[in-house]
Amino acid sequence: MNQQRRNRNNTAFRAYYFGVLVTSIALLSYLAIYQKPVRTEWLAWGYYLVILLAADTKLTEIQARSRSKVLASRALAMSMLVLFGPFVAVVMDAISSLVRGVFLQHTTPRKMFFNMAMLAIANGVAGLVYQAIPFHASFSNGLFLLPLFATLLVYATINSLIVTGIMSLDLHIPVREIWHRDFSWGAVVGVLELPFIAIIILLFLHTGPWTLMLYLPIIWVVFAIIRAHEQQKEAHMASIAVLATTLEADEPYTHGHSYRVSQYAVTIGRAMGMSPRNLEVLEYGGLLHDIGKIAITNDIICKPGRLTDEEFATLAEHPAIGARIVEQIKFLPETVDLVRHHHERPDGKGYPDGLKGDEITLGSSIMNICDAFDAMTSDRSYRKALPVEMAIEELVKHRGTQFNAAVVDTVLALHRRGEFDIIPDSAVEKVIRQIQRVGEPPVRAIPTPTKEDPVHEVQR
Ligand SMILES: [Fe+2]
Ligand SMILES: [Fe+2]
Repeated sequence: MNQQRRNRNNTAFRAYYFGVLVTSIALLSYLAIYQKPVRTEWLAWGYYLVILLAADTKLTEIQARSRSKVLASRALAMSMLVLFGPFVAVVMDAISSLVRGVFLQHTTPRKMFFNMAMLAIANGVAGLVYQAIPFHASFSNGLFLLPLFATLLVYATINSLIVTGIMSLDLHIPVREIWHRDFSWGAVVGVLELPFIAIIILLFLHTGPWTLMLYLPIIWVVFAIIRAHEQQKEAHMASIAVLATTLEADEPYTHGHSYRVSQYAVTIGRAMGMSPRNLEVLEYGGLLHDIGKIAITNDIICKPGRLTDEEFATLAEHPAIGARIVEQIKFLPETVDLVRHHHERPDGKGYPDGLKGDEITLGSSIMNICDAFDAMTSDRSYRKALPVEMAIEELVKHRGTQFNAAVVDTVLALHRRGEFDIIPDSAVEKVIRQIQRVGEPPVRAIPTPTKEDPVHEVQR
């Protein structure tokens, strides 16, 4: 990313940050002046504070595992909005955020103030929406559920949009991708919270504030379920990454290949406007694309120089074998197509199915180009790595025959903007060490160099 673009992003980030802070202060002042508490019950406020802190302690644990910053304690915030009005809810949530930030998470002040401001805006606006909708005091016939549902949606949307916005500006990742990765699960949980919120409110009104303590085991169960889901997903991803990196660990010429292919593919997919789900498929498809090589003997995979027809036929089985392996994982089923078809070509001369043009999915076409790009820009036994310009020239030369034209154009445009370059070995090493946690992989003797056409190599 060039300097000018970075500066523009920094200014946008600061403007956004202070915009959120100023909005929250303005809203809080408005609420303090015009919104009196619906009921003043010091004991009930005390109970709420205890339970908010308890929920936040549990949340801190969950948030440390996932990248999600969804504050699922919104069930409590929602019930406070209904029972006490927006001003009390905003102040209580702010106190809880302050305690959490200072004593539990040891957050930087910058981050903590942003979180407090964000919660204040979400609580404040949601509370005003609740009071503006009819039936907001109809507790005896259950009609308060209608404004409550609308309020829940407003709260979850404002909360997530504010965080998504700041993360997008900070990480330079499109808003919808962050939403999908970090918030879609949280939004589902949010809607499911409606019955819980209703129960909290009704128990409070009919039996007394002490009933809030009954919520503690519910918090535990909800978060145990979320944690199980997160752990399952993490375990799947970790096994995929370990499979991919182990396969390449003792092969000096393909070391880190799958990781780089996966990263190049996500960059291209994002530039082509692919959906967040498809970007995830590209990421894991890239890690897995050559997994079928596990069934091919090393004397073929590592053979220096040109393969015999028979050897090539054996090697060409790896996409089909890989697809059969990935089918068994039953995780991101769309990756099967990418693994099977990453050596197909628009002119139909690829393998294993000889697909042509539109018969090849965009994902597989991206995979094919990233595979070729990485093969060309990595050292091989018979030649040194090509510089990025030459590799892109090769892609352009074979545009429409060996490589999908639209994908080649995207790579070219990205490169011209300075957004597509070779991933350095240092970055690959760091990630692989993180994945395997076993230090440096063994490096084997390098076979004798022989000359070979780099684009032919792409066909391996
Ligand atoms: Fe391959
Ligand atoms: Fe490959």
